[in-house]
Amino acid sequence: MLVKQHGQSVVVDAPAKLNLSLDVVGKRSDGYHELQTLMVRVGLYDRLRFSGSNSGQIELSCRCVSAAGHDGGESIPTGDANIIVRAARLLQEETGCSQGARIELFKRIPTEAGLGGGSSDAAATLLALNQLWQLDLSEAELRRLGARLGSDVPFFLFDTTAAVCGGRGELVEPIHLSQHVNFVVARPKTGLSTAEVYRHCTPSGTADDNRGLVSALQSGRLRQIASRLHNALQAPAERLNSDVSHIISQLANQQLLGPTMSGSGTACFGISVSHRQALTVAARLRAAGNDRVYAVRSRP
Ligand code: C5P
Repeated sequence: MLVKQHGQSVVVDAPAKLNLSLDVVGKRSDGYHELQTLMVRVGLYDRLRFSGSNSGQIELSCRCVSAAGHDGGESIPTGDANIIVRAARLLQEETGCSQGARIELFKRIPTEAGLGGGSSDAAATLLALNQLWQLDLSEAELRRLGARLGSDVPFFLFDTTAAVCGGRGELVEPIHLSQHVNFVVARPKTGLSTAEVYRHCTPSGTADDNRGLVSALQSGRLRQIASRLHNALQAPAERLNSDVSHIISQLANQQLLGPTMSGSGTACFGISVSHRQALTVAARLRAAGNDRVYAVRSRP
């Protein structure tokens, strides 16, 4: 994630992620689940602007922007319930820093979607305030703090498009991709809580070997990628919320390859053969009444 200096402020574009595979291996004694997942960053971004202040306070304001570019209707908490505020306070506590910050969030990534928006925002906050407050924390220290904020945060602190992640998600092995893949992502009207979906899943005891998926991704063979997409959280999510199966069948009806849910849902995605096709399909799905549909690509 690039931290750009704009006068006295810094600006970061925080990307969404898709889980191309997700296996739940077991339940851990700390209450989390052991998993193995292959994640890719895609071109759908929240934008965060950080300005320093001497008050010591962390002040967050938020504007939601819909897929069509107007004001979205989501209500985002701006106090301690927001992971951005928690990330900033954690940095203050860990370093003894007495500086404050005003943070403006332009929220495009839908919440309760499995797209990692909150985790990506938290990673952006750690990177931006490390620079703005001149804390000089190392990448390893930022990743350790990131893991305390959320299982997916360390992934976004790596400078990589894709990674295989293990443990509860925080153990990241970056993968180099030389090709990009086009996706259409759709988030139904309703969301799901991550904790609830995990509560309803049954661990399989094993994880699929991701090597076939990795080599298909590296060579850009779309049908082979599509045939290997899977998510162990999709079945429990479909049982909890029928919008998930409904959006999966809408993606399949548009000839997208391998429709699958991302993370703990409810957003689902399919592979498109070109960016042009992705834009056409996204427009059709919007015309059919889905307002949160995005034509995105992974970056090589
Ligand atoms: O780590 P994060 O805050 O994103 O996790 C949210 C919730 O999802 C956790 O409190 C836990 O209930 C569940 N979870 C899990 N196993 C994981 C990741 C998340 O059970 N590997």
